[in-house]
Amino acid sequence: MSCPIGNRYADEQDGAQLGEEAGMLYGEYLMLDKVLGAQRMLSKVHNKPVHDEHLFIVTHQAYELWFKQVIFELDSIRSVFSVPMEESQTLEILKRLNRVVLILKLLVDQVMILETMTPLDFMDFREYLCPASGFQSLQFRLLENKLGVKQENRVKYNQNYQRVFGDDPEAVKRIEDSEKQPSLVVLVEKWLERSPGLELSGFNFWGKYQKAVEKLLSEHEKLANECTVEKVKKYRLMDLEKRREVYESIFNPLIHDGLISRGERRFSHKALQAAIMITFYRDEPRFSQPHQILTLLMDIDSLITKWRYNHVLMVQRMLGSSQLGTGGSSGYQYLRSTLSDRYKVFLDLFNLSTFLIPREFIPPLTADFKNNLCYSGYSKDLPEENNKITNGNCTINSNKI
Ligand code: HEM
Repeated sequence: MSCPIGNRYADEQDGAQLGEEAGMLYGEYLMLDKVLGAQRMLSKVHNKPVHDEHLFIVTHQAYELWFKQVIFELDSIRSVFSVPMEESQTLEILKRLNRVVLILKLLVDQVMILETMTPLDFMDFREYLCPASGFQSLQFRLLENKLGVKQENRVKYNQNYQRVFGDDPEAVKRIEDSEKQPSLVVLVEKWLERSPGLELSGFNFWGKYQKAVEKLLSEHEKLANECTVEKVKKYRLMDLEKRREVYESIFNPLIHDGLISRGERRFSHKALQAAIMITFYRDEPRFSQPHQILTLLMDIDSLITKWRYNHVLMVQRMLGSSQLGTGGSSGYQYLRSTLSDRYKVFLDLFNLSTFLIPREFIPPLTADFKNNLCYSGYSKDLPEENNKITNGNCTINSNKI
């Protein structure tokens, strides 16, 4: 297969001269003159060349290029999520989320390469780049906003991050747009709320789950009361009381909403119900892809937290714990404060494990609901042939979700 960009050397070997009609060359297509000509070493400009400044620049540029790709993928994922989608589209979402996850893994590891620079080497050119700082990375802020980091959840110094873009109206506009447009977490929340199985008149997962939890807790209470060692009995009853409170926090919508306003939960009550349901029934074909989506969303949050952590460690290694950042923050101390759960947009997914119940207590799916999830029906919006998506032994209902 010939290279789609054109291969100068192959043509030369064939003795053919490249004319205009042969298409673009590699460097032209990739605009390498721009990309490879963009490493201006300030230490060289100051006639004191520092070898490692080249690595410092290339590393940051590589990050920004990957941020660009992640934002590109996120925008496309958000546009698919923004309307009720066909089940077939979940495959595309999975593919793109997985790509984002792989890129983020790469970004977490890239920190190591920059750590081969010693603090002394860094000191040799740091003063030249002041007041430039990663704090001014527009794409990093867009990425955070598009995922769903909320202004009120940012740590104080970071709540006013827009000020650094004040001189650049285009950047300000992009930031404002990214704050106004529905973020990925908001779109995922709406998608979860549309999950089949929550209808009170249908499968009524939530009603069944509450009953299952009550049964589980009363069995535990019985066992605790049967315990003959007073100390153990007391411990078990105390633990049980705590469990009751935890479950109450999801069964009582008022408590749930209170936790949302304190920033300790993110999803609406209904979306949280759906996430728990999907976790329980992930082996059902209809819930298997949604479960994979939830897992990848958690991976994204985990990897960004890991990146923040690796970056903080690198900053401590380069600057110590009490040197100010070139962007004016307290440096290490500020960055360390961004490691908190406040920056996890899919926080509720991490905490789902709190609400799990043993397999034998999970309400079995009813025949009706199973049939509804997995039947040879047709969505009225789609041509017949698009509607049957076979998966294993059953033909899945391709109703939009
Ligand atoms: C020697 C290496 C590095 C040092 C010493 C360093 C230092 C810092 C410091 C001190 C801050 C806090 C803001 C400030 O006051 O300047 C910061 C923020 C930041 N840096 Fe770096 N950095 C390094 C490498 C990188 C790299 C490779 C990236 C990749 C893009 C990066 C991206 C960022 C971002 C996005 C922020 C803002 C984080 C936030 O506000 O949550 N930094 N950096």
